[in-house]
Amino acid sequence: MTEQHREIDVLLDEKRTFEPPAAFAEAAHVADRGPYDEAARDREGYWEAWARQLDWFQPWREVLEWNPPFSKWFVGGALNAAHNCLDRHLEARGSALALLWEGEPGDRRTYTYRELHEEVCRFANALRGLGVGKGDRVAIYLPMIPEAAIAMLACARIGAPHSVVFGGFSPQSLRDRIEDAGARCVITADGGYRRGAIIPLKASTDAAIEGLDYVSSVVVVCRSAATDPEAAPYGDAVETPSCDMIEGRDHRYHDLIADASPECPAERMDAEDLLFILYTSGTTGKPKGVMHSTGGYMTQVTATTKWVFDLGEDDIYWCTADVGWVTGHSYIVYGPLSNGATVLMYEGSPDWPDRGRFWTLCESYGVTVFYTAPTAIRAFMRWGDHWPAGYDLSKLRLLGTVGEPINPEAWIWYHENIGGTRCPIVDTWWQTETGGIMITPLPGAITTKPGTATVPFPGIEAAILNEEGNPAESGYLAITSPWPGMLRGVWGDEERYRETYWSKWPGIYFPGDGARVDEDGYYWIMGRVDDVLNVAGHRIGTMEVESALVDHTAVAEAAVVGRSDEIKGQAVAAFVSVVEGVRTSEELRQELRAHVVTKIGAIARPADLIFAAELPKTRSGKIMRRLLRDVAEGRALGDTTTLADPAVVRSLQRQFAGSES
Ligand code: WT7
Repeated sequence: MTEQHREIDVLLDEKRTFEPPAAFAEAAHVADRGPYDEAARDREGYWEAWARQLDWFQPWREVLEWNPPFSKWFVGGALNAAHNCLDRHLEARGSALALLWEGEPGDRRTYTYRELHEEVCRFANALRGLGVGKGDRVAIYLPMIPEAAIAMLACARIGAPHSVVFGGFSPQSLRDRIEDAGARCVITADGGYRRGAIIPLKASTDAAIEGLDYVSSVVVVCRSAATDPEAAPYGDAVETPSCDMIEGRDHRYHDLIADASPECPAERMDAEDLLFILYTSGTTGKPKGVMHSTGGYMTQVTATTKWVFDLGEDDIYWCTADVGWVTGHSYIVYGPLSNGATVLMYEGSPDWPDRGRFWTLCESYGVTVFYTAPTAIRAFMRWGDHWPAGYDLSKLRLLGTVGEPINPEAWIWYHENIGGTRCPIVDTWWQTETGGIMITPLPGAITTKPGTATVPFPGIEAAILNEEGNPAESGYLAITSPWPGMLRGVWGDEERYRETYWSKWPGIYFPGDGARVDEDGYYWIMGRVDDVLNVAGHRIGTMEVESALVDHTAVAEAAVVGRSDEIKGQAVAAFVSVVEGVRTSEELRQELRAHVVTKIGAIARPADLIFAAELPKTRSGKIMRRLLRDVAEGRALGDTTTLADPAVVRSLQRQFAGSES
């Protein structure tokens, strides 16, 4: 266990519980906890029943083929994810709203299922016209605009795995991901709005692919083509940048779809064919391309969206994540659309034009189900109760959280100030690698307690194990049997897949989180046990930040640790020693922080950057991160007996105390 782990004894002692509201408990599926027993009796049969709810071009021969650590689900089956998200609903829900979108300036667009289907078909044809075919990887680097979902679904329709890259990532990060996946097509936009400013994505794309000659086509969405942000209520006089188009390589999205046919047969995909790659940080310097397949992934996201969010025809569902993260993939696009739901999508910041923006959106669209991150909830708490209190949030009936452990104060605040004490809260634990939600209450069936994600979703088998793999009350979270949405590998690196997830205990998945189980069998997730930070719900590898720092010519050595942060959960703290002859200064500190932003993106910017004459090391030369964490947290040092030179860390402590005042 690391010191990041929360002290939960106090919480366990409080024993504060929230009974499931009757309105939910009446749902047939949750009555008498049936699905838990059913799934425990026949796990494969249970998942098979979910898979049957999808449209298949060809049925499977076998539900599961398990050769640890490789699983195949719905073997021999064929389907298409976009068909399941769109075509499947046309008859019953063709004129129902699929997507409601609002830009940060307040410009709006809506799509019915029929309209979304048509646009996706047109763009799928356009991509085919650019030579993109089944199995070709496509990078998507877009703001939160409808075209992000459209591009993903168009790729899925033609069987081209997408690799969505968060728009906040730097050109360098985009380049790394394009290169690793070997993407020959990139879909981007001239810009997107964030806090009243424009993020120039096309310019970043140009920088990212400079010299990568195999990138043969770039599609550019003109952000303001379909609406007029200038005329929108919160619009500032910011213009989307005109971008340089390279003849033959760059194409305007709107020109392409205008010329494309609205008929586009969906590619027949094997259940195990790759649906997407999504890069996520690990313990090494290089992000890994997590691979998700079609049949198993679609089955799990369809099931979890339906039961965890209880979505029905009248719901207006809003997940505030960005499509650049897995939450956006599974719970903005694939899960909700597979369920025929109405999804709200918002482009911008929660504090633009003021701190009531989220509640303005909830009120004006009549949002009923709202899913966000604890870091956002803590920011809302800090901003003050009067913000949500000023809006009509009475349509809300269910709230969710994801991305990091939620502290009970934030849970209670959310319950009272956003949920008006009537909405159940689903705290959902899962990861990029799991594809879909794994540990969560089912609203109506499970009594909740602030701070715990409660129990595994029916059909998911988990345990808390110690290092040796024996059950423990406190230890490592483990997933003990394969599940449909599990990652199928790390793109181009099978060894890393085995090593990272399956080497701790044979045949058992290791997610990298510490956890405890209480007397009701509820799981309390306590945070990462590896060198991965969780900053505002974003996963950041300490090694990635270290590599970015040592890339600067002034830096000799760097060590990065996480320290607790009231709003973001964790913040990046960097300790840096400079090369001989370089003078440390405030300017250099700022330059190095900016360098990390240039290399990775703003999410990785060190909150603290401490210059060290030397980093604390063991006598064998290993950096003692544990002591650096003590320094960054401003607390007493742990065991220092193996430290080569105790004076080193004392000097850091003095400096750190100085930097905070
Ligand atoms: C890591 C996964 C799941 C989508 C967003 C993040 C932490 C996630 C919870 C939760 C406690 C949580 C874990 C996990 N985490 N949800 N409800 N309670 N911790 O996906 O970037 O792959 O990060 O986020 O540490 O391992 P990700």
